[in-house]
Amino acid sequence: MSIEVKGISKMYGAQKALNSIHFSAQKGEIVGLLGPNGAGKTTLMKILTCFLPATEGEATVCGYDVNTDSLEIRKKIGYLPEHNPLYREMYVREYLAFIAKVFNVPNPKSRIEELIEQTGLSPEANKKIEFLSKGYRQRVGIAQALMNDPEVLILDEPTSGLDPNQMVEIRALIRNIAKEKLVIFSSHIMDQVEALCSRLIILRNGELVADDAIENISSTINGEKKISVIFKHNIDLSLLKNIASVSRVEQNGNKFFLFCDTNTDIRENVFDLAVAQKNKLLMMQEESSSVSSIFQSITKIES
Ligand SMILES: Nc1ncnc2c1ncn2[C@@H]1O[C@H](COP(=O)(O)OP(=O)(O)OP(=O)(O)O)[C@@H](O)[C@H]1O
Ligand SMILES: [Mg+2]
Repeated sequence: MSIEVKGISKMYGAQKALNSIHFSAQKGEIVGLLGPNGAGKTTLMKILTCFLPATEGEATVCGYDVNTDSLEIRKKIGYLPEHNPLYREMYVREYLAFIAKVFNVPNPKSRIEELIEQTGLSPEANKKIEFLSKGYRQRVGIAQALMNDPEVLILDEPTSGLDPNQMVEIRALIRNIAKEKLVIFSSHIMDQVEALCSRLIILRNGELVADDAIENISSTINGEKKISVIFKHNIDLSLLKNIASVSRVEQNGNKFFLFCDTNTDIRENVFDLAVAQKNKLLMMQEESSSVSSIFQSITKIES
């Protein structure tokens, strides 16, 4: 197992930022770490990369203990921190050479050129970091995280602030890298998560509230299914609400969304209602749960 987390908690003074987190993950997985602002994602990543001690619990990375083997773990792990701190006054190659030295990389020159190529930095590689656009600075951050060819890659919001084209490129890069590694990344961009992850871990207020493949989370946690319907003529909302098994109805223009239990099928009832009302159905389809709706339904605070 590349990562094993057993009951990790973190207190910042009186505030509990993580509460007894358990999960494990292995090579070949791309795990999306999601959660609203302040949920504890960055804190968890800092603990796994040995930048911050846990208050309680155990975690191992490639078999090494985060509490006692931080030097070994740093050799095995690549980390792109949130806000990607870089030495802005350095040139790209100069900075990467510095990182290569820190990791004592053999043949640093060829490794640096390889990473520049791999992360698409070539056109900007002669510039000072402070003059790079945000997307290219992000690539420098990813290149430094990959320097030691890590077994585990931890990326804290790797695509924040990138334009859509750069996002697609960085996504392809991460997918490519992930074949031989475990990648854990946090993101607030749901399309990104949907396109990349094999698995989601969702935190809310320091608690782990979901950990599963996207398909499984959507069918078990959501617990309700959404059917969208368009009728040719106006229809009274109360008639839709009265259909057996419909729990609630939402309306957006001429489109109605009918919610029901995942185990029931209301489509015949909707059809019968349309016939009885001498109305006509123009469209009826079951909406699949997107990562975005899963996220909202899991992380909303019950009021
Ligand atoms: N050094 C610190 N001292 C005190 N409190 C902290 C510290 N770092 C984080 N916190 C608090 O811990 C909680 C979790 O923060 P964390 O940065 O891990 O959240 P996050 O999920 O990464 O959020 P975001 O999506 O905004 O990046 C927040 O309430 C935050 O204010
Ligand atoms: Mg964060």
